Amino acid sequence: MPLRCFLPWLLCFTMDLAFGATGYVRHVQCTLSQRTALCSGSKLSSVPVDLPGSTEELQLNNNSIKQLKNSCLVGYPHLRVLSLVSNGMEVIETEVFVHSRHVENLSLADNSLYLAYQQTGEALSALSQLKVLDLSGNGLAEDMVPFLLQNMTSLEYLSLSRNILLRLDQTIFHHLYQLKELNLERNQLFEIEEGAFDNLQKLQRLNMAFNNLPCLVGFQLTKLVVLNASHNAIEWFISNQDVEDTFHLETLDLRDNKLIFFPFLPSRSYLQNLLLSGNKVSFYQHLAYNSSSNWTTTVQFYNLNSNMSTVTASLWDESLHGDMSSLDLLDLSVNQVTYLPHGFFSQMPNLSRLKLGTNCLETFSLTSEGMSSSLYELDVSNNKLTVLQVNQSSLDMLGNLEHLNLSLNNLQKLPRRLFASLPNLSVVDLSRNKVAICSLEEQSAGTEYSDCVVLRNISSLRQLYLRDCSLGQLPSMAFEGTPLTHLELSGNTGVIIKEDSMTGISQTLKYLGLGGIHSLNVDFSQFVCLHSLDISANSLSLLPDSLLRLSLRWLDLHDNHLQTIPVSQAQILSYSINTLFLGGNPFNCCQLDWLRTFEEANTVIIEDLASLTCFTDLGREQRLSIRGLDMCGGVDEESSWWYVLLLLPAFLSLLGVAIIFFVTFRPNQLPREIKRRCWRPTPY
Ligand SMILES: *[C@@H]1O[C@H](CO)[C@@H](O)[C@H](O)[C@H]1NC(C)=O
Ligand SMILES: *[C@@H]1O[C@H](CO)[C@@H](O)[C@H](O)[C@H]1NC(C)=O
Ligand SMILES: *[C@@H]1O[C@H](CO)[C@@H](O)[C@H](O)[C@H]1NC(C)=O
Ligand SMILES: *[C@@H]1O[C@H](CO)[C@@H](O)[C@H](O)[C@H]1NC(C)=O
Ligand SMILES: *[C@@H]1O[C@H](CO)[C@@H](O)[C@H](O)[C@H]1NC(C)=O
Ligand SMILES: *[C@@H]1O[C@H](CO)[C@@H](O)[C@H](O)[C@H]1NC(C)=O
Ligand SMILES: *[C@@H]1O[C@H](CO)[C@@H](O)[C@H](O)[C@H]1NC(C)=O
Ligand SMILES: *[C@@H]1O[C@H](CO)[C@@H](O)[C@H](O)[C@H]1NC(C)=O
Ligand SMILES: *[C@@H]1O[C@H](CO)[C@@H](O)[C@H](O)[C@H]1NC(C)=O
Ligand SMILES: *[C@@H]1O[C@H](CO)[C@@H](O)[C@H](O)[C@H]1NC(C)=O
Ligand SMILES: *[C@@H]1O[C@H](CO)[C@@H](O)[C@H](O)[C@H]1NC(C)=O
Ligand SMILES: *[C@@H]1O[C@H](CO)[C@@H](O)[C@H](O)[C@H]1NC(C)=O
Repeated sequence: MPLRCFLPWLLCFTMDLAFGATGYVRHVQCTLSQRTALCSGSKLSSVPVDLPGSTEELQLNNNSIKQLKNSCLVGYPHLRVLSLVSNGMEVIETEVFVHSRHVENLSLADNSLYLAYQQTGEALSALSQLKVLDLSGNGLAEDMVPFLLQNMTSLEYLSLSRNILLRLDQTIFHHLYQLKELNLERNQLFEIEEGAFDNLQKLQRLNMAFNNLPCLVGFQLTKLVVLNASHNAIEWFISNQDVEDTFHLETLDLRDNKLIFFPFLPSRSYLQNLLLSGNKVSFYQHLAYNSSSNWTTTVQFYNLNSNMSTVTASLWDESLHGDMSSLDLLDLSVNQVTYLPHGFFSQMPNLSRLKLGTNCLETFSLTSEGMSSSLYELDVSNNKLTVLQVNQSSLDMLGNLEHLNLSLNNLQKLPRRLFASLPNLSVVDLSRNKVAICSLEEQSAGTEYSDCVVLRNISSLRQLYLRDCSLGQLPSMAFEGTPLTHLELSGNTGVIIKEDSMTGISQTLKYLGLGGIHSLNVDFSQFVCLHSLDISANSLSLLPDSLLRLSLRWLDLHDNHLQTIPVSQAQILSYSINTLFLGGNPFNCCQLDWLRTFEEANTVIIEDLASLTCFTDLGREQRLSIRGLDMCGGVDEESSWWYVLLLLPAFLSLLGVAIIFFVTFRPNQLPREIKRRCWRPTPY
């Protein structure tokens, strides 16, 4: 019998054997350490029964345990932590936890518990010591949750995130007297009935991010420390102004909602972080009490289910923002603020970070009344500022200010000695404004507003960003006495950098950005500490020699005119460089030895390697990869197919001639040859 006939049977046999084997070893797939059994991702379809009886923690994530059978935990009476994430679990039978009542921490995330929630709920109610319960990602609707949470009087942490809850009523969390943290992130909540949280007297952290809540009114959870309601559709946040107690709220996250008014905060609180970015907040005092417009002054709120709620808010009274005396961070970036109300800052004596980037401010007073002396960071970038109001005599009030971001405005004049007057200023971003640097002569001309700023002798300044400032030239000793470590000058096309422009900072500078300035005649060897350099987009066809005397670690050379990098240079660079950008250069495919040098150095990472191309002698552009280091004039894949196509007809005709010759001159050999080929078993 030909051997071929055995083969399929043999294959089936071995496959059977393999399946049999995995079935047999499945109980020994756990890693045991102390009293923990780690059995995650082991293709288990039931809880292993042969683990030590003393096991306290059992990790069974990423298996396919579709149900927990009544007896499955009988052998583990000391179990405290049980995790069954991602098992496609549908049901927990009612008696499962009767013998392991000490479970404190139970994670059932990412299963399908909506299928048999009543039975599962009954099983869970045996866990009288449960503290942590994770039910996220289980397809649960709000009418199922009460079954799952009945009698959970000891629960401290509960996650119901990624379910499909629509509304919260008074019954849903009724028994959770000890709950400290509740996660309701990523449901579809659009309504919270009054009293839904009334029994949660110990609740400290509540996360309702990524839901559809239209407003939060009558807020009165005084014990709450963190409230996260970001990414909803909230237009109003109004706390109950009648509550006498001090709220414990420290962090209120209302980012990415639809707030039109500044939130009405509790009248007494310890609020420290108020996060409001990505809303439509503005101030409207200029519209109030305007005789020509007859606008309403209060707003009232109704609940869909119960009667009219008593919440009213006085819209225009801007002294009613609530208690902000402990505020540390106010993030109002990406809103529609056109001005800040009079006395706004007097309400926040402890403010240290103020973010007002991307708003509609046309003026801003750096020395407004009440501006906190603890202000540490101020960001007014991306507004419409043409002028920055400053009272020079009260500038030293801002003694703590370290970060000042003025970028993306339309500033053309600033007080000449503004930066020099701020004693602790460390980071200044003036990018995309039209402000020049004062020369030595201009410097002594006084303190008034001018189109240049003094940057000399500022002993605290470390980082200075002047990207796209249309700088015409850097005057002599522009930064003398200012120990900059980080200087960004990119985008100042045509800026003239004099020989002595940077003398003051040559010993301190670590990062220098000179991208796209198109006039790169700088002697880099003076910067003894420089380790990062951006000289992209400068039409360079050769690397400046002075650059090779540095020990650069980060070098950006993209969008230049480099055709090659001499191997000697590549070698020197590779001693110190670990990050390199080279995209957008017209490299020559025949001169890629530098690439091998970098490869061999093993420490150089070309960040944009995947996008590099080179040009062949014929002008064809091709992808550059390590594999194709010998790409010179080379046949790339496409053209080799052309050769095949061209040669194929010739080859075929030659073969034809040979066969005709063969058949014509050795006719008697043909049948035997065919016969032998057809009958001989193929040598497998
Ligand atoms: C489940 O497995 C996936 C992929 O292996 C992994 O990313 C995930 O973290 C695992 N989940 C758990 C809870 O271990
Ligand atoms: C609960 O157990 C999980 C492991 O299953 C662990 O990651 C988590 O930190 C525990 N939670 C608490 C509050 O101990
Ligand atoms: C739940 O608590 C109620 C009373 O609050 C009690 O009657 C009931 O037996 C408890 N159920 C379980 C399963 O403990
Ligand atoms: C609020 O929740 C979102 C989404 O999980 C998260 O990115 C953000 O950091 C949270 N906010 C706070 C203050 O923790
Ligand atoms: C009153 O409202 C009108 C139109 O809305 C506006 O033009 C005017 O400037 C307002 N008056 C004040 C004092 O703001
Ligand atoms: C202003 O409001 C009052 C009461 O709401 C109303 O009687 C009056 O007609 C309104 N006036 C104008 C000019 O709209
Ligand atoms: C709603 O109002 C009616 C009468 O005005 C009252 O009988 C009922 O108790 C109120 N319902 C609630 C939930 O306050
Ligand atoms: C202001 O901050 C200081 C130090 O951080 C702190 O001691 C003080 O209690 C804060 N004041 C208020 C009103 O929160
Ligand atoms: C500037 O500040 C000083 C001291 O804080 C104050 O006396 C003076 O009135 C202010 N000047 C202006 C124009 O606001
Ligand atoms: C400057 O900052 C340092 C800490 O960074 C701080 O100790 C010092 O008090 C600040 N100086 C002023 C004038 O606030
Ligand atoms: C200043 O703000 C701009 C725009 O918001 C941002 O891109 C830039 O990184 C900020 N500068 C600094 C030094 O943080
Ligand atoms: C820097 O300050 C010193 C004294 O503090 C002074 O002698 C020197 O002239 C100043 N340099 C510049 C460039 O202003």
